[in-house]
Amino acid sequence: ARVDKGGFKHFMAKEIAEQPTVIAEAIRSYLPTGSDKVQLPGEGVDFASVDRLTMVACGTAYYACLTAKYWFEQLARLPVEVDIASEFRYREPPIPARTLALFVSQSGETADTLAALRYCRDKAERIVSVVNVPESSIARESDLMLPIHAGVEVGVASTKAFTCQLSVLLMLALKAACDRGTLTSDQIADHAAALRGLPSTLNAALDQNDTIRSAAQKLSEARDVLFLGRGLMFPLALEGALKLKEISYIHAEAYASGELKHGPIALIDQQMPVVVMAPRDALFDKTVSNMQEVMARKGKVMLISDSKGLAEARDGVWSTIQMPHVHPSLTPILYAVPAQLLAYHTAVAKGTDVDQPRNLAKSVTVE
Ligand code: G6P
Repeated sequence: ARVDKGGFKHFMAKEIAEQPTVIAEAIRSYLPTGSDKVQLPGEGVDFASVDRLTMVACGTAYYACLTAKYWFEQLARLPVEVDIASEFRYREPPIPARTLALFVSQSGETADTLAALRYCRDKAERIVSVVNVPESSIARESDLMLPIHAGVEVGVASTKAFTCQLSVLLMLALKAACDRGTLTSDQIADHAAALRGLPSTLNAALDQNDTIRSAAQKLSEARDVLFLGRGLMFPLALEGALKLKEISYIHAEAYASGELKHGPIALIDQQMPVVVMAPRDALFDKTVSNMQEVMARKGKVMLISDSKGLAEARDGVWSTIQMPHVHPSLTPILYAVPAQLLAYHTAVAKGTDVDQPRNLAKSVTVE
């Protein structure tokens, strides 16, 4: 299909803005109206007959897998391993019986991910892929293919494919919880209701565009940026740092907030902004105390949180971005929006080639 920028300056901006629509589509297709039961295409998967999950991917899709690990473990009590495809295949990991192998890929053509899938072919119980291109090699070679419904993604830095991958993976984790009886029907219903409300919550996050643009103006002067998060916000911090370095060429890295003391705190000074992603959830107080360690060393903190979190912790903070409140399981999908917009506006401020960053390819079909 031919796509154009639809009035936006860049494909990336258009793809960020499309997220409420494409995610609504993904949710409708796995969570049909009138039922809280997640439905998979074809023969589906019965997670009651699976003992463990191995997830493999590259780049942004790998961060989607890291996020999903929290969901599968917490909601469905299913042990999960996550691997970078290029490491997985050469380590020759043992694949125990009753392992479900799950491959996540926007293009469905990433060479290392495809090779990892082939490695699992005669070893895993079932091979499932989560892809954006249903005709792709990875899709064709899977026992079950789950489309993410993101539509064509042109920007090299993945945005809507990431949040659609997350949405489908969360619904898959809910299916697993249902099959394994690990959540009550009320908890399942709460998740389903929150998912159905997600598109409008995402629109409220997109409404923060102007605030995020001003925050990005400040970031664009930095040489290095550190991203911090705990729990579900840790993989998202990794994705936020990846987005920023890919398109603005500012050196960025992410740490689990609790690891701050084990190294990166040595780097903190007035020159290095620290982006803290922290919805007001069960881990909030711990993240705030890590944030205070940064501020005590004159570090500049950009805090992304909801109204409650900001009311409690904005003292002494350099910059704030307010997100709407959302069900705790959905925070990575929602907080992806400010992570993407921060990277986007920083890159625009620096005048880099947002859609076609140097040295990067949309799909890496060689090793
Ligand atoms: C490249 C792209 C990334 C993508 C990664 C994995 O590095 O630039 O945006 O996340 O490949 O691609 P896949 O198509 O397998 O998701």
